[in-house]
Amino acid sequence: MESPLVAGWQCRVCGASVDIATPFSWQCPNATATDRHHALQLVQGAAQLRSGGQSNPFLAYRPHLAWDGFAAAHGLTAAARDAMVGDLDSLVASVAGTGFVETPIERADELSDALGFGRDGGVWVKDETRNVAGSHKARHLFTILLHLRAAEQMGLAKWPRRPPMAIASCGNAALAAATLAAAVSWPLRVFVPPSANLHVTECLAELGATVVECPRVPSDPAGDPCVHRFREAVAAGAIPFSVQGPENAWCLDGGRTLGWEMSSSGWNRLFVQVGGGAFAASVAEGLRMGGSTPRLHAVQTEACAPLARAWDRSRSLSPSEHWTECMWPWERVGESAADGILDDETYDWLPVVEAMESTGGAPVVVTEANVLRANELGCRTTGIDASHTGTAGLAGLLAIRDQVNPDERVVVIFSGIRR
Ligand SMILES: Cc1ncc(COP(=O)(O)O)c(C=O)c1O
Ligand SMILES: [Zn+2]
Repeated sequence: MESPLVAGWQCRVCGASVDIATPFSWQCPNATATDRHHALQLVQGAAQLRSGGQSNPFLAYRPHLAWDGFAAAHGLTAAARDAMVGDLDSLVASVAGTGFVETPIERADELSDALGFGRDGGVWVKDETRNVAGSHKARHLFTILLHLRAAEQMGLAKWPRRPPMAIASCGNAALAAATLAAAVSWPLRVFVPPSANLHVTECLAELGATVVECPRVPSDPAGDPCVHRFREAVAAGAIPFSVQGPENAWCLDGGRTLGWEMSSSGWNRLFVQVGGGAFAASVAEGLRMGGSTPRLHAVQTEACAPLARAWDRSRSLSPSEHWTECMWPWERVGESAADGILDDETYDWLPVVEAMESTGGAPVVVTEANVLRANELGCRTTGIDASHTGTAGLAGLLAIRDQVNPDERVVVIFSGIRR
């Protein structure tokens, strides 16, 4: 049998190990309903990152993906694994209008000029607005779906009937989840707040998802009622189809394709907008595996910046041993046009703090004026129709432009389309 490039998972907090062959290994085995402070990370060999050249990143980098190691460990041949990606991608394309294709990254000349960069430096923009379901989120969810489909095909799923999948989101993650679920006719429950955008909930329903409105009920503990209902559904047997690592670590697998697709050039800095943190964690890990370690700047808005607070606290505390003292929900979440990064807690904060430390980066907290200016400038100069959340990384560059040398090569990711 081949030896998979990914050996398994290890918890950054308690050290527990999970073999790659373990099915449905969504969470650290020591995580409980009352102790959620666990964070699985992938344990992989030193094999050099290599693309097979296919345009679909899940095919091009298949051997580096954890789901592939899982399927290989159960004896599924490489040809069968390729076929599984291809078949699933065709189903996704039939719903989304596009399958997974490496997204473009280009130097934004007009933007670079406007920001005073020199010929050797500049701003490179990776355009995720054309990814499946209009944002990067589907990349995270596709590896959970591949894991599930592989488990079914290999006879590891013993359920008489598929349990539903569940997600708490009313934005890009929910739309990506509903798109992928529709592709395989898997029942999905989406937990949304009463204030959810009607256009989004209608789209979700059209895709066949069950939309569950979650008003706060008197018996609710502190925190988001949608998350409470989501966790209750998971406790009752639903599959966490989540883009938060602590809820389902397998989302961190596919997210790395973003970093792999941009690992060939010598970047100096990377600005990534941070909500729950899975996006930044995955991009940084993908780049690291490709041998590229630009300074990582995690960008949050003044309206909600729990990661910057955790970063400050973790200057004097070892983060993995002091979760509670470093990361807790932001007390008064304000408003921002970048509403996709207002998560009151940065769930995947540990890997993001670690990546900022190891690359010499730091968080950037931006004003609303910079959120607005980044969107106007970024969309106008590139012609990409991204949302304010999608361009919020650029707001980070605007905020510290005077600290960046004109010869530096800077990357931002326009992560979601304007809706
Ligand atoms: C377009 C877009 N970019 C970035 C993010 C932030 O990703 P994460 O929550 O993983 O930090 C989100 C999250 O909703 C998003 O919708
Ligand atoms: Zn653990």
